[in-house]
Amino acid sequence: MSQASQAHQLIAPDVRLGQRVSIYGFANLYGCEIGDDVKIGTFVEIQKGARVGNRCKISSHTFICEGVTLEDEVFLGHNVTFINDLYPRAAKGDGQLQTEADWECRPTLVKRGASIGSSATLLCGITVGEHALVGAGSVVTRDVPPYAVVAGNPARVLRTLSIEARLTPGVQSGPAVASLPGGVEAGAPADERRPEIHQNHRRQTGSEPSCAAGVYPAERDQFVMVKPAARTT
Ligand SMILES: CC(C)(COP(=O)(O)OP(=O)(O)OC[C@H]1O[C@@H](n2cnc3c(N)ncnc32)[C@H](O)[C@@H]1OP(=O)(O)O)[C@@H](O)C(=O)NCCC(=O)NCCS
Repeated sequence: MSQASQAHQLIAPDVRLGQRVSIYGFANLYGCEIGDDVKIGTFVEIQKGARVGNRCKISSHTFICEGVTLEDEVFLGHNVTFINDLYPRAAKGDGQLQTEADWECRPTLVKRGASIGSSATLLCGITVGEHALVGAGSVVTRDVPPYAVVAGNPARVLRTLSIEARLTPGVQSGPAVASLPGGVEAGAPADERRPEIHQNHRRQTGSEPSCAAGVYPAERDQFVMVKPAARTT
């Protein structure tokens, strides 16, 4: 692993990483909690206070801000944007730049097994229900019911997944509502774990991380593993 490629990862020492976390190049993580077996694509930013559950897949160019919680097995497509301030301002009335004390972070919860389509924007203060599916390019302004398929701007319910679909793996995976546990498990501090840091994916493998179903290529295990604490930047 060259110093140049290590410089393409920014994983702050205060990040709590679970086991077997895969992080592709140019990701920027600080002050967040990441569960076990999570995959994080290229150019993803995850801010302080955000929590990601186990077995989540986060596709490239997605932004997860402070106040966001993803429960287990959440899928985020590419370029998904979360928001935590409905009325953002750069400066206060006196012309001074706003500080942390000048705005209120509004939380967002994405519940277990939900999927968010590419380029969706989720306004803050909302909950996306278990195994719900948000369409590509949607702007989600209200809570999304469990198992609902929503799309559009503002997002509206297109349909609700049938019991049959909920029980059929690969169709709309996930068990019946009654057996769904929730919650986020935090891992140990980043400098005590050895996440798989996937650098320069295209150069090493000749292929891009797969988009469909958020599945990253099987050859990922050949990638170099780097301990974040060893980074030079
Ligand atoms: C939302 C989604 C799941 C709907 O799929 P579906 O249930 O098969 O819906 P259909 O294709 O039958 O479309 C139903 C209606 O919703 C509309 N629609 C579908 N997806 C839409 C979207 N993302 N935004 C706005 N409208 C959408 C269709 O135009 C159609 O409208 P019509 O009845 O007026 O013609 C799917 O279109 C989608 O956006 N999936 C997310 C894909 C993604 O981002 N993957 C990321 C990894 S690559």
